[in-house]
Amino acid sequence: MQISVVTLFPELVDAGNRCGMVRSAIEKASLAVRGYNPRDWSADRNRRVDDRPFGGGPGMLLQPGPICGAIDAAVSESEGEPRVVALSPQGRRLDRHVIADWAERRQPLVLVCGRYEGFDQRILDSRVDEEYSLGDLVLSGGELAAMVVIDAIARRLPGVVGDAQSVVEDSFEADRLDHPHYTRPPEWEGRGIPGVLTSGDHRRIAAWRAEQAMLTTARRRPDLFTKHGPTADERAALERHWLGDTDAPRARDRTRD
Ligand SMILES: C[S@@+](CC[C@H](N)C(=O)[O-])C[C@H]1O[C@@H](n2cnc3c(N)ncnc32)[C@H](O)[C@@H]1O
Repeated sequence: MQISVVTLFPELVDAGNRCGMVRSAIEKASLAVRGYNPRDWSADRNRRVDDRPFGGGPGMLLQPGPICGAIDAAVSESEGEPRVVALSPQGRRLDRHVIADWAERRQPLVLVCGRYEGFDQRILDSRVDEEYSLGDLVLSGGELAAMVVIDAIARRLPGVVGDAQSVVEDSFEADRLDHPHYTRPPEWEGRGIPGVLTSGDHRRIAAWRAEQAMLTTARRRPDLFTKHGPTADERAALERHWLGDTDAPRARDRTRD
């Protein structure tokens, strides 16, 4: 899959490309990431790409000429028709459904990163298919949001994550959060691990994990139940738990509830 990033800081995106899962996806040729710096399309002798907003007000805006020059180059060098996505706090909220859809389609993406006060509106009107936001917070630039998109896509591309099952079992995949995990040592600072995990009984382990995932979801993100509400078994487990008759993920609860 090909992802182009229009950014004033290609070195920032490159740094992410050299690490972990993204690096692995690039090395396996499942993913290609290329930066386009709008300064290379600036007509200004100092390579400026920003100017003051008409009507006054604070800050500077990205000008249409250099940004659209970079977008046009990224589009024309993409294999096939790319989707042009601007990262913006005013966009639709990114979630795993959007990422899964993009990763499945493998349609090339052009991610456009803003800086300063953001984009001249004509950039969005003339070149951008969709705007997406990382959430209700304001970053100083779109690069970190673009890197989040690249990372989340990379781990969904075939053959990138060693055990594909681990992606399927992640939080949100079945509209549930993940269950608690434990590794060696079995005793640490006086804390043990749930006995079922060393029982060797894979059915009981799977049942315990499913129940813990459901309980964590019920406590922290009950909104996830709206699509796939608790099943009869899950409801019974919830009732048992509310009556105190269960081995709940206490350590995690203390940190959040
Ligand atoms: C300082 S912000 C501009 C904020 C803009 N004036 C507003 O209030 O909507 C500069 C750039 O950072 C990026 N950015 C900031 N917050 C973001 C978010 N939550 N999601 C995605 N990109 C974001 C966008 O590319 C934006 O153009």
